[in-house]
Amino acid sequence: MANSQFKPHAILFPLPYQGHINPFVNLAIKLASKGFTITFVHFESVHQRLSKSQNSNTNNEIDFFSEARKSGLDIRYTTINDGFPLEFDRYINYVEFWKSLLQDFPARVDDFIGEIMQSEQSMVTFLIADTFFSWPPTIAKKYNIVNVSFFTQPALVYSIGHYPLKESVVEEINYIPGVKSISTKDLMHFLKEGEIKTMQHEVCSMAFQEVKKADFVLINTVQELESETLDDLNKKQPIYAIGPISSFLTKITVSKSLWYESECTKWLESKPLNSVLYVSFGSVSQTNKQVIQEIAHGLVLSEVNFIWVVRENIVKSDGINILPDGFKDEIGDKGLIIPWCDQPLVLSNPAVGGFLTHCGWNSTIESILCSTPMICYPIEFDQPTNKKLVVDDWKIGINLHDGDLIHRDEVAKNIRILMTGTDSLGFKQEIEKLKNVMHKAIEKDGSSERNFDHFVEDLKDKIY
Ligand code: UDX
Repeated sequence: MANSQFKPHAILFPLPYQGHINPFVNLAIKLASKGFTITFVHFESVHQRLSKSQNSNTNNEIDFFSEARKSGLDIRYTTINDGFPLEFDRYINYVEFWKSLLQDFPARVDDFIGEIMQSEQSMVTFLIADTFFSWPPTIAKKYNIVNVSFFTQPALVYSIGHYPLKESVVEEINYIPGVKSISTKDLMHFLKEGEIKTMQHEVCSMAFQEVKKADFVLINTVQELESETLDDLNKKQPIYAIGPISSFLTKITVSKSLWYESECTKWLESKPLNSVLYVSFGSVSQTNKQVIQEIAHGLVLSEVNFIWVVRENIVKSDGINILPDGFKDEIGDKGLIIPWCDQPLVLSNPAVGGFLTHCGWNSTIESILCSTPMICYPIEFDQPTNKKLVVDDWKIGINLHDGDLIHRDEVAKNIRILMTGTDSLGFKQEIEKLKNVMHKAIEKDGSSERNFDHFVEDLKDKIY
């Protein structure tokens, strides 16, 4: 750390979703390894799911950071009640849940942080909350703590989020500073025409409004990968690209999977190098039965080996038998279908040679860190924009389809292109370069490490 006398204490507050929990846990470890004291806050519902995924009782005494503490890190752990019963499904009922996060939750956070401030021996100096919360500016001001926002997605998404779209929707948008040009089909879905009034739009526009009041913004990206966008953002607000923040780079194990992880290593070890396609659409996005069936048929037609994470809630309301009849018998040992896995462990297995992904930002980073080229099937949120980075800007993958409708032949064709086509070598070469850029960024004199040190210096100036 920049100054050994300086021991700031941060409250870390992630959103209760896997794609946000993972970078927050990894950030907590990074900060604590550099001498910070951390109070990490999970929602009680997350605590319960984590406990279940570990096959342990859901008793509130489990401390998921105890191993980290044994390694000498000063990470305290606590939980907050969001006002809903534990069994309330915060995924399916997200409209109700998000409405409450906007309206009722801030008062709960206020009481909760007030209690922490009174009870902690070492003074809390700052808050690091997810950018998609809108309460941090008010709470930070009330308790006189520094407000740090952590944006877990790329700078491109952060930049676009700040610009209200012009009413007359054009094909290409070229008026966003720091963003050369982007097609409307690559925008975050809640910004697109016709979806303007959704709850997600309300939450996101509020978040992008409120984050302007943050003292500092940390972004899980790398300067060299998004330099133009970051340079522009830095003119307006202190922004620090400190990525990649990923489990791959975190040596201390902290349980963070919300579902039980199936074992895949043995199966993978029986497969040749680069022969397996890993298929997963992350933790929240849903599709429909028809898409799942076309993917299933496409996988068979492609004749590649595959591991497919078919999550329990991957489709909205089409029942439990979503795979084609007899599919499991048909694939035999060529495919493994599981409800959830340790994704970094699977991706880093030498047998895995491609990733059919929804382009969640964590999955994208993990794929790059494993040099695994991607087939993109973006569904919602930032995923279409992340796909643009992967396919158009970085050329480390191909696009399967924009939107729901896909056909099995298209699936099979794209899988073959990625796994064995003449372009596959090019994707591998490009992704290897990006992997090196990411690794260099977090070396001692790398851009992310330097940015992190600047953040600590600036934080110190703000506090004293
Ligand atoms: C959400 C949004 O959907 C995504 O668009 C945004 O970028 C982040 O927040 P999610 O859909 O879950 O995230 O995707 P992603 O960002 O890829 O995060 C999923 C995480 O779950 C990854 O870290 C991945 O390693 C992990 N995972 C996924 C597993 O550990 N096991 C699995 O079986 C699948």
